Amino acid sequence: MKPVTDVMQLFRAQRAVRAFSDRPVEEETLRQVLQAAVHGPSGSNTQPWKFIVVRDQAVKTALDREYSIAHNEPGDAPGVMAKAPVLIVPCVRIPERTGQVGFQTGASIYPACQNLMLAARALGLGTVLTTSHRIRNAEVKAILGVPEGWDTAAMIPLGWPDRNYGPNHRPPLDEAICLDRWSE
Ligand SMILES: Cc1cc2nc3c(=O)[nH]c(=O)nc-3n(C[C@H](O)[C@H](O)[C@H](O)COP(=O)(O)O)c2cc1C
Repeated sequence: MKPVTDVMQLFRAQRAVRAFSDRPVEEETLRQVLQAAVHGPSGSNTQPWKFIVVRDQAVKTALDREYSIAHNEPGDAPGVMAKAPVLIVPCVRIPERTGQVGFQTGASIYPACQNLMLAARALGLGTVLTTSHRIRNAEVKAILGVPEGWDTAAMIPLGWPDRNYGPNHRPPLDEAICLDRWSE
């Protein structure tokens, strides 16, 4: 996919990509994408995140297995998480006050994920936000050594896309907005 320099085009161009070429992702490129993530907003600017960057094939394969089980597709064939050149696992600190991941927690990590994905797309990289590994969260946390007090928020495979993907498709804007009060 071509890089996107027009920011207003970027929102249409950013879309789920689940298949990648073998082209490696350079460290400097990856750092640009991660830099965008940490500029995201968070509640009280706590920046309660860590981004685990997985390149080790054995770790990717172990995570892929959990993802496949979560998707009810266990088997030996490598899936998207194993085949992606890089797998990013955004983690979020669990608030001490509640000891639980909730609305506020998600709202403090997913904007950073979106920044990451938009930056990736701007450079021509593909990503997809996935959360279904959470069905196997205990196993995923064990594989990655995520400590108590932290949780995984997503698994984001990242790489140069296997082909040119077009823009995302959404219904007309008017279906999504209401004026002054709720309306159907
Ligand atoms: C909360 C959330 C969870 C998602 N989980 C998965 C997932 O487990 N696996 C997957 O392949 N895609 C997952 N996706 C990606 C969506 O399927 C994708 O964003 C949606 O279909 C829109 O795709 P598009 O932007 O290419 O049109 C998830 C997206 C979100 C926002």
